[in-house]
Amino acid sequence: MDRIRIVGGRPLNGTIPISGAKNATLPLMIASLLTEETLVLDNVPRLADVGQLQRILGNHGVDVMVSGKRPGERELDGQTLKLSAARIVDTTAPYELVSKMRASFWVIGPLVARTGEARVSMPGGCAIGTRPVDLLIMALERLGAQIDIDAGYVIARARKGLKGGEIAFPKVTVGGTHTALMAAALADGTSVIDNAAREPEVVDLADCLNKMGAKISGAGTPRIVVDGVPRLSGARHSVLPDRIETGTYAMAVAMAGGDVLLEGARPELLQAALDLIGGAGLNVSATNAGIRVSRNGAGLAPVEVATAPFPGFPTDLQAQLMALMCCARGTSRITETIFENRFMHVQELARLGARIHLDGETATIEGVERLRGAPVMATDLRASVSLVIAALAAEGETMVNRVYHLDRGFERLEDKLGRCGAEIARISG
Ligand code: UD1
Repeated sequence: MDRIRIVGGRPLNGTIPISGAKNATLPLMIASLLTEETLVLDNVPRLADVGQLQRILGNHGVDVMVSGKRPGERELDGQTLKLSAARIVDTTAPYELVSKMRASFWVIGPLVARTGEARVSMPGGCAIGTRPVDLLIMALERLGAQIDIDAGYVIARARKGLKGGEIAFPKVTVGGTHTALMAAALADGTSVIDNAAREPEVVDLADCLNKMGAKISGAGTPRIVVDGVPRLSGARHSVLPDRIETGTYAMAVAMAGGDVLLEGARPELLQAALDLIGGAGLNVSATNAGIRVSRNGAGLAPVEVATAPFPGFPTDLQAQLMALMCCARGTSRITETIFENRFMHVQELARLGARIHLDGETATIEGVERLRGAPVMATDLRASVSLVIAALAAEGETMVNRVYHLDRGFERLEDKLGRCGAEIARISG
């Protein structure tokens, strides 16, 4: 298993190209199941989760072509995927595949919408508390699907096709909103999704579906209206930049110091996070090329924040912010409201000398003078990268073990940080 070795204490200077968003790419790839024509996606990041989803879609009969690099393209430019689901050959998504990535459960919406049947294993994915799929199932039921649960599989049937319906989510769910959107796009009649997730990735999916001929309005607001159409066509769509990667590198600069252009990043995708770390002492400015972040020396101020659905502070940046606050001048409080038990990074950060006290959903972080390098273990995707951020400022060497979690969501992280002056290397094996 690969490890990453970091020697802390070096500032970051230069340019970090921001990749296409993983959390937009996955539902966009899944949307290819909705049409027999070809869906072309540009700016797709090179990530383990993308490869895994290619295998899952392949099993349903989707032909996935990855275009080679064109002359003039840079090493870190996104890739182009051509996905053709001319014929769905299998409507079962088996446990062996779905258990590796939670988002693959979302194939259930397009499969039942297009073929009238789907049999999808209950998901696995990051170990961050129980993550049920009851709301995704509820959404499909509202659209007329009949649901059975058998031997760890959710079976959805709609022999005569889905019908438009009213879906009111009792809590905001990104996956639920994606599933409802994709299923309602091909349903007969109008659907209304209330308390919909407003995340930029939902808007990106709706934009792409509209290019495919769907009739969706209101994406990005809590009420989305979908007028179902009998069929969708192919389209070409470029994945929006990854706001979580952007926020992560912004925090890395806040932690290590330096001056970095986050190339291609869009501030409106993560305004709450930028405002928060700006308030803590990072200089943030929007430029035509992206977002420029810099910090010179002065200590960081502590923060108080609770995670919230978009446009609030994202849960996917909670671990990184906590790493950053380990060295703030004072006491910070971070409350996690989206996922129970998303604090696995706390004990690993403690190995580096962090002082964090957990009380239910709230972590109290007492800033320390300095962290010290140590061997640590990556547990989930965002927790892993918080250890990298802490290591960038820690004295001496940190070895991050089990980095496969990082490879699921961060494209060539060691390359991007290394080019900006970090002492970081992957050790294979
Ligand atoms: C997506 C993101 C993930 C992010 C999360 C919240 C992807 C691939 N993943 O995950 O990175 O952290 O949004 O922004 O895009 N819930 C239920 N029942 C359900 C579904 C969800 O109770 O049927 C709960 C969850 O347990 C959680 C909350 O709703 O407490 C929000 O989860 P949700 O927005 O659905 O997360 P994901 O779509 O899985």
